[in-house]
Amino acid sequence: MRRPPTMIDLFAGCGGMSLGFQQAGFRSIMAVEHDLHAAATYAANFGEAHVFQEDIAVIPDSEIPQADLIIGGPPCQGFSNLGSKDVDDPRNKLWKEYLRFVDKAQPKVFVLENVSRFRKSNEFDLLMEEADHGSLKGYELEHDVLVASDYGVAQRRPRAIVIGTRRDLSPIGHPPTTHARVPGLDLLPWETVRSRIEGLPRVPESTELPTRDPVRYFGQAVPGHFSGLDLHIGRRPVARSLERYDHIPPGGGRFDLPDHLLSDCWRNKPTGTTDVMGRMLWDAPSPTIRTEFFKPEKGRYLHPQWSPNDPSDRVNRVITHYEAARLQDFPDTYKWCGTKVSIARQIGNAVPVGLAAAIGRHIKDRLEG
Ligand SMILES: C[S@@+](CC[C@H](N)C(=O)[O-])C[C@H]1O[C@@H](n2cnc3c(N)ncnc32)[C@H](O)[C@@H]1O
Repeated sequence: MRRPPTMIDLFAGCGGMSLGFQQAGFRSIMAVEHDLHAAATYAANFGEAHVFQEDIAVIPDSEIPQADLIIGGPPCQGFSNLGSKDVDDPRNKLWKEYLRFVDKAQPKVFVLENVSRFRKSNEFDLLMEEADHGSLKGYELEHDVLVASDYGVAQRRPRAIVIGTRRDLSPIGHPPTTHARVPGLDLLPWETVRSRIEGLPRVPESTELPTRDPVRYFGQAVPGHFSGLDLHIGRRPVARSLERYDHIPPGGGRFDLPDHLLSDCWRNKPTGTTDVMGRMLWDAPSPTIRTEFFKPEKGRYLHPQWSPNDPSDRVNRVITHYEAARLQDFPDTYKWCGTKVSIARQIGNAVPVGLAAAIGRHIKDRLEG
């Protein structure tokens, strides 16, 4: 039997990307994540022995194994457009670390994921220069923005995906889309919020994660494990917030509020992003689930149930951690570690599992075929 191809996950977070690639048939042999709670979640689901809960910069070359694939994306430092392309700029430190791992592990392929505006950043220019005449010159780079909903994820999340293929292999290319707003011969309809969260309790039983003995990872006590309905936790909005939510129909947002419910800031800014205080639509993919999806003023995170005629048939709350995890395609059995805020950050930071799986399957097919 052929052994599963191996992968290293850098900046692994809670493991969304690893889970997708594992579903596609890859086996994680090393993961690097310095945040204790995120690394603990990763370890809880993939095993602790191969997880380095450390700053990537302190991992010596001698610890880097050979692998078929490297995945992960260095977080960009706000993409400041200061015009500096200096490789010694401290902001580029994490990129140099990524390049160091590619250099040592010599993977057949690496997949770099980042926010969609990454392709307009200095970090991106640096990467292209490295492929042209630097440490990546042994790799052919292809880049594109993929939208998770086009790959069967119930979320419109655009991500910049750079695929580097070693030059002794044929370039891999990006996976063809499988889903579309308007389905066609080979394209299924977009998955919807309804398909992921309909039928879950409208009123969460608790506003806190369950109290239980902590688990231990990396020699430290960490809150967890939590899974499934443990994450279905509500909030306690004040009366004025509830009144606001009640005015907002599916697809609507702060522009639906009557004057007396506007904050001064909104009243003074009658135009701008429409997602603020937005309510999701049942029969469309959700917007991008960010790390603060539990704050309605941060995006379109109100629950989609809202009857125009029957106020008792409205769910006036933001989505819960459980619903957010489902929209990111995490299975109900996934084990989470950390506090409410840290688990929200892990969920919002993750690559949707279904998108990672689509990229992984495509790469595996191309490597084997
Ligand atoms: C966008 S998240 C990764 C999400 C992950 N790919 C997933 O799908 O779940 C980036 C991660 O990089 C980690 N990170 C940032 N700087 C780091 C460093 N110097 N060393 C190790 N990890 C780091 C952060 O803690 C964060 O969890």
